[in-house]
Amino acid sequence: MAKLLYIETVGCQMNVLDSELVAAGLARAGYQPTENRHKADVILFNTCSVRQHAEDKVYSALGRLKHLKDRHPDRIIGVIGCMAQNDQGLIFRRAPHVDLVVGPGRLGRLPELLDLVAAGAGPQMEVSLDRGSATKLSVAESFQSRIPSERDQSQQPSNQAMVRIMFGCNKFCTYCIVPSVRGPEQSRSVDEIEAEVRQLADQGCLEITLLGQTVNSYKHPAGERTYRLSDLLYRLNDIAGPRRLKFVTNYPGHMTDDLIEAVRDLPKVSHYLHVPAQSGSDRILKRMKRAYSAGAYREMLERIRQAIPDAAITSDFIVGFCGETEEDFQQTIDLVSEARFKNSFIFKYSTRPGTASAEKYVDDVPYDVKQRRNNELLAIQNAISLEDNQPLVGRTLEILVEGPSKTSRKHAESGPVVQLVGRTSRDRIVVFDGDRHLSGQIIPVEIEKVSQFTLFGKQL
Ligand code: SAH
Ligand code: SF4
Ligand code: F3S
Repeated sequence: MAKLLYIETVGCQMNVLDSELVAAGLARAGYQPTENRHKADVILFNTCSVRQHAEDKVYSALGRLKHLKDRHPDRIIGVIGCMAQNDQGLIFRRAPHVDLVVGPGRLGRLPELLDLVAAGAGPQMEVSLDRGSATKLSVAESFQSRIPSERDQSQQPSNQAMVRIMFGCNKFCTYCIVPSVRGPEQSRSVDEIEAEVRQLADQGCLEITLLGQTVNSYKHPAGERTYRLSDLLYRLNDIAGPRRLKFVTNYPGHMTDDLIEAVRDLPKVSHYLHVPAQSGSDRILKRMKRAYSAGAYREMLERIRQAIPDAAITSDFIVGFCGETEEDFQQTIDLVSEARFKNSFIFKYSTRPGTASAEKYVDDVPYDVKQRRNNELLAIQNAISLEDNQPLVGRTLEILVEGPSKTSRKHAESGPVVQLVGRTSRDRIVVFDGDRHLSGQIIPVEIEKVSQFTLFGKQL
């Protein structure tokens, strides 16, 4: 009988993709996905270390599984992903009923490690020893070579797929744990990426999102030339089948004109750019080691708006970074007010042991001040998002239908017509009623109403 696998995923899209690849890899080894962790033979948590809160949540979820493990000692509990790499053996000490700890660069070994645990070899840990190991790339690569049809089993038939074009990060922003858990920046070859996109195209995939921590610093030498992200986009745009190409996350300093022009000129590339600013204060940006000024960021926005007036631009901000004064915060407010982002993700600074900011600076902004700044900035952003969504009322937009909405899944709507959710090419979420079989198709929807986060429409 097939064994049942449950994976819970937190963190960024890198983790979402890794979980898909793990599910596909383990399907080959005879594991079937389940949504019910209490029935699963193997329970995996794919984890994130970017903020303390993300780690705390995993430790409490692990704590709650102690009883299950006491009753069913043969069930395997594993922690994979960034927290596995970050905390390593500490996980066994804090949660002794955990059987497996596997870092993001070692996921290719999961099938073997699960066999070892099942055979009674005891707890297993597999993490990368340093940032520089070349094996990291090849091990992670082994999971890239999946059989395409298996990818579908682990996913809604949404016709959306993510393709990693680079691993790791070399930026070392002072607050950030990612470079130490995901290793050095390494770009995959154009040929390999193109082959993967062709496979996805053959399967009917309509939207492909290219992933990298600083996706626009993609650089791969091939023969006489070096391919940049813009060159890669030209190659991928020519592949028949997919209708939309997106890429995340951009580093402001690498938003070069060739890339902006590729987004402007290539019909399949979405006019959607996620370019996190993090702060509007030069003093704070410097402390964060972001290597650009607020002025340079504004100038970059201006270049995008000139070339692509209808671009949807989104950002991330950290409030309450070490030493952030009211004046610094006001400069962030000014930037958000002017920039008119489609939306911004706002985070309260969370000190991460081992990062430069944890070592050099004092986490001196009190929690309630961080909270207030978070609320204030969010309110300004939300008002802008709502205002900028208003003109969409009455317009007909092309939506890629992702599937039944959360509400309709919660109410277990069973008829053919359900509440569906989809996305525009500029990454706006649209909710409307329609036949569930529309999932995975691109269809026109007329917008009737908007909120700051969602557009509501009807199928034409
Ligand atoms: N590579 C991406 C983002 C990676 S993490 C980039 O460079 O933009 C996603 C977001 O989490 C970051 O953009 C940042 O806003 C936030 N973040 C990272 N470390 C954080 C920390 N220590 N505390 C709070 N937020 C953090
Ligand atoms: Fe972290 Fe900065 Fe790298 Fe983004 S660019 S992953 S914020 S170190
Ligand atoms: Fe978190 Fe790792 Fe992504 S730390 S944000 S899951 S790269």
